[in-house]
Amino acid sequence: MTSPLRIKFKSNLKNLVILSSIMALTSMATAQEAYVPSKENLEAREWFQDAKFGIFIHWGVYSQMAGGGNPGGEEWIMETEQIPIDKYERLGTTFNPVKFDADEWVKSFKSSGAKYITITSKHHDGFAMYDSDVSDYDIAEENSFGRDIMKELKAACDKHDIKLFFYYSQLDWHHPDYYPRGVTGQVYTGRAMSGDWDKYIDYQNAQLKELLTNYGDIGGFWFDGWWDHRNDDYRERWRLEETYKLIHDLQPHALVINNHHVTPYPGEDVQPFEQDLPGENHAGFNTTYISDQMPLEMAQTMNGSWGFSLTDDAFKSTKELIQTLVGAAGRNSNYLMNTGPMSDGRIQPENVQTYKEMGEWFKTYGESVYETRGGPIGPRPWGVTTRKDNALYVHVLDWKDSELTVPLQDVEVASATLVRNGKNVSYKITEGGIALNIPLEELDEWDAVIKIMIK
Ligand code: GLC
Repeated sequence: MTSPLRIKFKSNLKNLVILSSIMALTSMATAQEAYVPSKENLEAREWFQDAKFGIFIHWGVYSQMAGGGNPGGEEWIMETEQIPIDKYERLGTTFNPVKFDADEWVKSFKSSGAKYITITSKHHDGFAMYDSDVSDYDIAEENSFGRDIMKELKAACDKHDIKLFFYYSQLDWHHPDYYPRGVTGQVYTGRAMSGDWDKYIDYQNAQLKELLTNYGDIGGFWFDGWWDHRNDDYRERWRLEETYKLIHDLQPHALVINNHHVTPYPGEDVQPFEQDLPGENHAGFNTTYISDQMPLEMAQTMNGSWGFSLTDDAFKSTKELIQTLVGAAGRNSNYLMNTGPMSDGRIQPENVQTYKEMGEWFKTYGESVYETRGGPIGPRPWGVTTRKDNALYVHVLDWKDSELTVPLQDVEVASATLVRNGKNVSYKITEGGIALNIPLEELDEWDAVIKIMIK
């Protein structure tokens, strides 16, 4: 006879089994979803947000082609001109940037006010700009330049206190196992229409491991090319969890950034936006989702090209670049401004000049950007706000009248001054907020910054 107690026990056991399978399922789900950044990682995020400004560098064997007369297609020339691998590979042996001087580069980048750099360690063409043991297609092979560009850069970065991030393309037009092909790199490359996808991911992770172990502490990785498979089943076969774990295990502070243009995946630390301010989508591929958990970063070209272009001289003015940088800061975002060095190893003189001008601007206005976060008021037609402790910075980018009302209620103002020269700005507290009276001549500045100290 079954005792009531046994029945109770059995049914409890059944419940327990059900419960534990539910728990197993949810823990599977949470293992996917829950990513708890380490203490070091959270500190690195703070550092990143304080730094605000970085230089992006697109440099590779494609720089020799200088866009082939088509602005915008530089690092894509293998794809756009359908150059097969056996022809393209020759570029790896003729790339000879004898004027490359890492120290000069870093000094020049630093002169702009930037605090970190992000450089292409491998772009879509698959060529590694560093000494890779798992590939013969790299800068250090016998017939190539023979110097490890990333090593030289890292040494210069350490010397000048600049952080180094590596761009790494997940998409690869050269590796035979990058198969199935996505929306790019189809038949022309000369690769067999077969390959072992997982072998490619192993190779990718082996390269990442090299970058994580041979170059000291790095700032993190900036991934690109995920979108090659956005429309097919391989969309979820990048093994991101494993890759991101590898990075965080080896360098817990390293920030993972992925330019996939979709809502961030677990394991990512910064949400990037390409050619658009967060929330905007002029480029046509950016998500309007903005994370309120992670740092943000906007990447932008100084002209219309990422890699060096011989013919693209549509350079944005320094004013426009500064205003975009400030617009990013007001949206709580970093600004990553791109340069495409020339094939001899020099930075375009136009860019070097712009760095100096930006650096001059930072000397006066740096405090309103560095170490700030997005201010309490969202972007307005006249500009943005940033904040740091009790200071609120009102960035007036485009305004013609001396009176400007900042719609902030219930704040007690201790002072309002011009950041440019410390002079007082008169103000009234009105129903609509703080009505500033800005000297008209200040509005000729790229950014008239008023610092409001809040009691
Ligand atoms: C795009 C381009 C790529 C470039 C990147 C930089 O993904 O395809 O060439 O490196 O943008 O943001």
